[in-house]
Amino acid sequence: MHKIAVFASGTGTNFEAIVEACNRGELDAEVVLLVCDKPQAAAVEKAHRFGIECFAFNPKDYASKEEFESQIVELLDRAGVELVCLAGYMRIVGSVLLGAYGGRIINIHPSLLPAFMGARAVERAVEYGVKVYGITIHWVDQTLDGGKIIAQRAFEYDGNDPEQVHRIGQQIEHKLYVETIKKILE
Ligand code: GAR
Repeated sequence: MHKIAVFASGTGTNFEAIVEACNRGELDAEVVLLVCDKPQAAAVEKAHRFGIECFAFNPKDYASKEEFESQIVELLDRAGVELVCLAGYMRIVGSVLLGAYGGRIINIHPSLLPAFMGARAVERAVEYGVKVYGITIHWVDQTLDGGKIIAQRAFEYDGNDPEQVHRIGQQIEHKLYVETIKKILE
């Protein structure tokens, strides 16, 4: 049974999809840790509900990114984590975490990278008048959303409602993330 950690900052629907795939036996894995940089986020509540260990921290309580990432690395090591899945973790991974877990961190992003890297990807794509949207899963390196692509899925949408794009995209994300994690673990 493989050990996974999920990092989130928000609702945690991808976190939930991964946990449920583990519980169904679709993934030969267990989510052993949720890391969340927003203690009030819904993802934290979900971790409590699932009985999953959760490290919820406020970055402002630390002197530097190196300091909180050192603590995260300690927790990942202690839990024996093999794969780190960023799922809406809205923070650039720093040198401490990459130094320890580089090559074992993946991220999901709501655009067809390299288009619309960074924050508000869907909103910016809608403003641009994009007609083909998509989801990307990629390895995480020191660049912002720039690591090598592992999987992508596209969908068409011709409208101007970012909420609708989010809704369509998230349904794709939940399936694509589980499928991709499965392939990586195998
Ligand atoms: C997801 O849609 C993910 O693609 C996005 O945050 C959302 C988190 O949703 N990630 C990024 O924008 C990363 N740059 P969730 O908390 O419901 O899983």
